[in-house]
Amino acid sequence: MANRTPIIGGNWKMHTDLESGMRIASEVIDYVDSISSEDAPAGADVVLYPPFPYLQAIESITGPSHVQCGAQDLWIEEEGAFTGEVSASMLKDVGASMVLTGHSERRHIVGESDELVGQKTKRALDSGLAVTLCVGETINERNAGNTLDVVCNQLSKGLDGISADAMANVVIAYEPVWAIGTGHTASPEDAQEVHVAIRAHVESVHGSDVSNNICIQYGGSVKPENAKDLFACPDIDGALVGGASLTADSFNAIIEASL
Ligand code: PGA
Repeated sequence: MANRTPIIGGNWKMHTDLESGMRIASEVIDYVDSISSEDAPAGADVVLYPPFPYLQAIESITGPSHVQCGAQDLWIEEEGAFTGEVSASMLKDVGASMVLTGHSERRHIVGESDELVGQKTKRALDSGLAVTLCVGETINERNAGNTLDVVCNQLSKGLDGISADAMANVVIAYEPVWAIGTGHTASPEDAQEVHVAIRAHVESVHGSDVSNNICIQYGGSVKPENAKDLFACPDIDGALVGGASLTADSFNAIIEASL
């Protein structure tokens, strides 16, 4: 059984302004640094995903700390006439170390396909960014009994062409669409069942070394009140947190629950 370090991500989505973002980040940094020592980080990896315009400013304070800074999205090309888009090298240039791909709001609001998500994942990894690939079913897919098929299909396409070596830089976030921002968290049992299936899928493609080591976060209405029960599940390796990452008190409490 691998000893996986939980990863707690704070996905701010299109929230905060510069001042409030800097305040949240500095309170998270203060907490994480207070439970870390120079050579021993906190016991959880912590990543903040601010909106693009604030990335550089937030990174200027996370950079020297034990907290990492990531981006919410990227484009599949490195340069060119792609108005409004942002490349992997631009993200690295301002200090991002990680990027989300396939978040449900990009799949379902913007209309990103599984194939596009896979291209983004590959581009990010090829460029040296770590990736958190988000997968998850809608309520209709769950009610129809298709959860595991949907999730495994998203994994196949989202990780198409990714080598076993590159998988060391991949985190999977299982985020049931019906649980995101709704207050309805998956039960620990339901989440654990899907996490086991995700790990089995990764094993079938890349073998047990990769599947034992990969971190699989749960996301969808994670709060300080439900985090401990979720983290107690053997295949849940942390959380991707939206709403509760917008105040340092609740986000830090979720980090604490993972230790
Ligand atoms: P939520 O969002 O915690 O607000 O449900 C999670 C996410 O979308 O990553």
